[in-house]
This record gives sequence, structure tokens and C-alpha cells, in this order.
Amino acid sequence: MPNKIVFLLRLLPLLLIVLTSQATPSTQVLQAYNRDTISLNGDWQVIVDPYENGFYNYRYKPFDQQKNPPASAFFTDSKVTSSSQLLEYDFDKADSLEVPGDWNTQSDMLYYYEGSVWYRKKFDAHLEQASDRSFIYFGGINYRADVYLNGKKLGIHVGGFTPFHYEVTDLLKSQGNSLVIKVDNSRHADAVPTLNTDWWNYGGITRDVKLVIVPNVFIRDFSIHLASAKDKKVTAEVLLDGAVGGEMVELSIPELNLVQSVKVDNNGLATVEFDAKSAQLWSPKSPKLYSFKMKSEQDELIDSVGFRTIATFGKQLLLNDEPLFLRGISVHEEYSAKGNGRVRSAGDARQLLNWAASLNSNFVRLAHYPHNEHMVRQAEEMGILVWSEIPVYWTINWTNSETYQNAENQLSEMIGRDKNRAAVIIWSLANETPVSEQRNDFLEKLASKARELDNTRLLSAAMEKHYREDDAGVAVVEDPLAELVDIVSFNQYIGWYDGLPEKADRVNWQIPYNKPVFVSEFGGGAKAGYHGDKNTIWTEEFQQNLYQKNLAMLDRIDGLVGLSPWILSDFRSPRRLLTGIQDDFNRKGVLSNTGEKKKAFFVLRDFYADKRKLYEPTITP
Ligand code: GCU
Repeated sequence: MPNKIVFLLRLLPLLLIVLTSQATPSTQVLQAYNRDTISLNGDWQVIVDPYENGFYNYRYKPFDQQKNPPASAFFTDSKVTSSSQLLEYDFDKADSLEVPGDWNTQSDMLYYYEGSVWYRKKFDAHLEQASDRSFIYFGGINYRADVYLNGKKLGIHVGGFTPFHYEVTDLLKSQGNSLVIKVDNSRHADAVPTLNTDWWNYGGITRDVKLVIVPNVFIRDFSIHLASAKDKKVTAEVLLDGAVGGEMVELSIPELNLVQSVKVDNNGLATVEFDAKSAQLWSPKSPKLYSFKMKSEQDELIDSVGFRTIATFGKQLLLNDEPLFLRGISVHEEYSAKGNGRVRSAGDARQLLNWAASLNSNFVRLAHYPHNEHMVRQAEEMGILVWSEIPVYWTINWTNSETYQNAENQLSEMIGRDKNRAAVIIWSLANETPVSEQRNDFLEKLASKARELDNTRLLSAAMEKHYREDDAGVAVVEDPLAELVDIVSFNQYIGWYDGLPEKADRVNWQIPYNKPVFVSEFGGGAKAGYHGDKNTIWTEEFQQNLYQKNLAMLDRIDGLVGLSPWILSDFRSPRRLLTGIQDDFNRKGVLSNTGEKKKAFFVLRDFYADKRKLYEPTITP
């Protein structure tokens, strides 16, 4: 390792101030992934309702604001009670769709559909103890969900990519529960994301649905993390819901023989510190996970956690105090190899991450929204670092307070769910947002909220470049947002939207920040199997040349700590309409959507192989 780095690292403990406030457990979160839960996945009856006839009366008043909603309100899940009764819907006779899953790829009729679809699930529920409590947990519904159980409104959730739940203890019956959800994937200018995106607007209950039954005092949420790689102090917090204060919780990491009992305060919160001297640190080279066990008088929750630190030091990015290069790739949450759309299972997630790993990647930029929890947990098991982002994308309505609140809710739901995942090292706030005073204010608030929620990870955002007015050969990344984040990331498309690939030979970069630099997007399209000379657009050879030129240019940037080229595999987008080439797919993948490797795949894979040798030289005997 170069002496200069060794010297700097020796200074590190003195200079590096790793803030140790951590993500405090919250009542907004319900840790359900590792609990024994009752799956409500499978076939749900559905009614496509473009005029929302089941939600509004003919005077366009919502039925659920009436004291006694009529049988014609779909959420009552009514049946006719006499041969003369008029009722213009019947869930029992309706079609069905698979949950989890987007509706667009389950029915040709719904491929482009944007509007409301009613989902209905009937289920029984067996409570062990009369005092047990029950919750219905949703991994994610795109985009707005109006949720009803046994005719009663549980609530409304907005935001297509983060988990939410409702307590149903007082509503749940042992037999014949009717869970009805109006899912509306309509786009709105004030939404997050806004009207205009470059991905398919997959609607539906796209992630797992679970019935979670717990004791009346239960472990709702926790946080755990390593404050310093050097002295290996692990701090953990636990939230005991239903506690009055004084209850005991035993926290243990059995493999390290660490056990501590602690008393919760009257908010049900308790904090503990472990001296984890013998802990093996988590890293891509060795993604070591430990069982973390939480046990209260009535409840027990076990999760697997990894211990690592992430920090910056000047232009360096440090994982466990070691310099790190992010050999990344951007990924949409779409596994369409079998014709479907959104990732539905751990298997789909593993497939995408295996494709990333075959590039010699140690990092994925999960664009442009929080991905399925399967993606993050599989990445952690595989030793792949993660950038996770909220869909504050392009031309958000910066002046609308509800839009801001929506973005903040999605941020806190993302952090709430994944704050204990060692693989997640970066929260990203925005993608290619146009600079303005309103946008700067919006993102400044969001950045401080992110740090308040979790100060153990790094912040970034995908910014844009411009050229110097006095010298078109100098590309500049300069944005007020760069002052707010820890890593200066930017997207650039030299060779695709910006000149031809040879232009990369002539461009130099000016990035005036003493922070690590990360290239969050570059790339170009190619249809797999279409070959020609490197100057013919859409050929694999054109894309191959574009990668060669861009990698050579970007590798010259001072302080470059990684890349996540756009994108792992072709993905559906309503903006990509060139017949015979795009056919509804954005073709910038280094793989086709079915996993065929294009020539650019090998350029990137070999570039990363060299980086790997440089940063992870085999330990000489
Ligand atoms: C943008 C944007 C991506 C988009 C890509 C493209 O940089 O961030 O979401 O898909 O360019 O145009 O392919």
C-alpha cells in the first residue's frame, strides 16, 4: 500500500470523527422479515376500477367518509342477500392476480394500465393467546394504497417502495377476515417520483404481505452497529412495544459469548454496549454475519447482523479503516427474464445480484427507489455493498409541502427498514435534480433529516455535470448539493447523449471538493446480438467502445472511489419506443433483460478485475 496512504491512515484515529449517534428504533417500523409470520401472499381477487366506482358515489363523494357506507362500496366486500338486490360487483366471481407481483406483467389488459385496482384477500387467523396483538405488514405497494379490514379503514399509504403496517388487534376475527385494498398507480406532478421517469410504472401489491401475531409486549424494532473498527465497540438499542418501563430485555451475540440484560425506560427503549473484541468485521471479502438475539419476558426476535465501519477521509473512502474502491453497477428492481416485471422473491433478487457479482462487482446502486428487502439482505449475505435511494427524481415539485413530507416519509421508511444492514453504506437523496433555490432548500432539509435518522452511513446524490464556459474541454461537477453530502456523485453520458465515444479522449474533469468522487451513471444502449462497426449506434461494438473510452477517461479523475455504470440489465421504460431495437426496453444494460452478456460486459468485468488486484492484492506470504 502506498506510503502516503499508510501515513494518512496512521493519522486516522486522531482525525477521523465517526459520529456514533445511530438510527434510533421507531414505532414507525415493524421488524417482520425474520419473524414467524402468516403469509398472505398468493392469489387475491381483483376488480379493475378505472372510474373508482367502488370508492366514490355518483356525486364523487368517497364512500368511506360516510357514517354507514353502502354495500356498493367495494371495501365492504358485500354479497347479495336477496334475489332482487342490485349489487354491481362480487369479489368471489372476480379475476385474480398473484401477490407479490405487479399487475402489468400478469395480464395483457393491464400492461399499460394506470389507475385503481381493488385487491381482496379472505383469511382466517388463529391467536395463541387472547392477549396477543396482530399487525398486517406490507413490503411495498405502488403507488397509493387505501387499506380496509372487515369493512373498516386501516389507513392510506403513499409511496411505492417502502414497507408499512397497521395494528389490527381489535378488528381481526378468527374466521373469514376480508382484507380489501384499493391500489392506485396513477402518476401525479406532486408525487415522489413525479409524472416523468425512465422506468415502467409497475402497479400493484408488488411485495410480500404478512399477518404478524406477537405478544402484547413485543420487540418491535432495534438498531445495532459498530462505532469503531479499532476498538470494536458495538452499540445496540431495542424498542419494547407495550412496555410500561422497567421490563428486562436480554441482548446477546451467542457466537461471541456476549450477553447483557438491560431494563427498558418508560418509552420501552434500552441501549447496550458490547465489547466485541473478537468480532470478525463484515466486508465484501468476508461478509461475516452474527446472530443477534433479543429476548424479553414474552417475546424473542433473532436477526443476522454484520459489523463494519464506513467513513471518508479527504478524498478517500474507508471501509473498516481500509481504502475502498466501489466496483459497482446500477440496478433497477426488475427481473423480467421470465416475462415478469418487479422482483418478487429472494430468488429473483439473487439472480440479479449473481449477474452483478459476475462483473467482479462489490457494489450495487439500487436505483431509483428503495428495492425489495430481499435485494438488500441477499446483497449482505453475498458481501455486496449497497447504495439505496429514494425516488426524488428529476423535476419534483420542490415548493409543495406535501411533496416534501412524502419524500421524508419514504426516506424514514427506507432507513427504518435497512438501518441494520451492514451492506448498506450510502443513502442517496436525489437523482439528476435541476439546481434551483427551492430544490436546494428541499434537499437540505432532507439531508439533515437523513443524518438525524442515521448518522452511521454516508450521504450522496446523483448530480450532473456542465462544461466550463471558457473551455468546452473541461467538464465540471459543481452543485450546492455537493456541500451537503459525503461523496460527490454524478451522472454523465459522454458518448451517448453528449457527443460520440471519442469525445471522452478529450475531456478533463474539474470537481472542486475535498471529498471522494463517485460516478453514479454513464453508459449507452446496445441490442444484444446486433453487431456492426463501433460507429454504428445500437451495436454491441458501439457500446463496447463507449465503455472503453469512458473508463479510460473516468479513471483519470483524482479522488475517484468507484463507479456504477448505467445499467446491469435492460429494463422496461415507456420512453424507449424504437421498434426492433428498444421495443419498450431501455437497452443500456451490459446484459440483456434475459442475461445475455453484451461485449461491454467484458470490458467492465476486466476493468474491475484490475481494480480488484490493485485494492485487494493477494496477501504475499
Ligand atoms: C438518466 C437517469 C436514468 C435513465 C438514464 C437513461 O441518467 O438517471 O434513470 O434511465 O439516464 O437515459 O437511460
